[in-house]
Amino acid sequence: MPEPAPTPTTGPPSADGPARVVVLISGTGTLLQALLDACAGPGFGAQVVAVGSDRPGVAGLARAEAAGVPTFVHPLSPGADRAAWDAGLRDRVAAHAPDLVVSAGFMKLVGPAFLAAFGGRTLNTHPALLPAFPGMHGPRDALAHGVKVAGATVFLVDEGVDTGVILDQAAVRVHDDDTVASLHERIKVVERDLLVSTTHQLATRTWQVVDRKVRWDS
Ligand code: GRF
Repeated sequence: MPEPAPTPTTGPPSADGPARVVVLISGTGTLLQALLDACAGPGFGAQVVAVGSDRPGVAGLARAEAAGVPTFVHPLSPGADRAAWDAGLRDRVAAHAPDLVVSAGFMKLVGPAFLAAFGGRTLNTHPALLPAFPGMHGPRDALAHGVKVAGATVFLVDEGVDTGVILDQAAVRVHDDDTVASLHERIKVVERDLLVSTTHQLATRTWQVVDRKVRWDS
């Protein structure tokens, strides 16, 4: 039986001007800050047009406001209808007509409605070398497992938990005296660079995904 034909995903650039990026956050927003700083430079090819958070009052929202970027808060209340929350998030993001969505420390899983609108153009970052140590506690789980090399992964969001197509990865050595916090902080240094460089690539080149591999066409 022949293999089914691959379904390529092609990405921006599709429009004139910088790619429009909506960033989703939940906390401190140092990844967001790296992206805001990069977008301010010449020729980056992307601009952050809105920042959304599931939590009010977080530092990342203040970073966006300081940069003059519109913000919104879309909380998921305990016991709330998850599908309605997901459709609402889709609508809040869609209002800003993004070319790309960046999940930068956004601690919620998006669902089918969101992915129907933005699947294939939503990237996420994870502080572990996927497919090892997915989930909420990548650095903690990597340290507990005794790995010697940890790192960060930027990938396209799909319906799974940190299972999407890997766009890029970077490694850091684990130190004998590392704590979860020290390891995570060192990972975040490379994670910020990775997010910035991958966003730039996606915003300025044409690309497609075939058989889980991203291929840069220009
Ligand atoms: C990052 O390591 C991200 O991968 C993880 O949370 C961290 C967010 O950091 N899920 P910040 O809020 O951008 O500083």
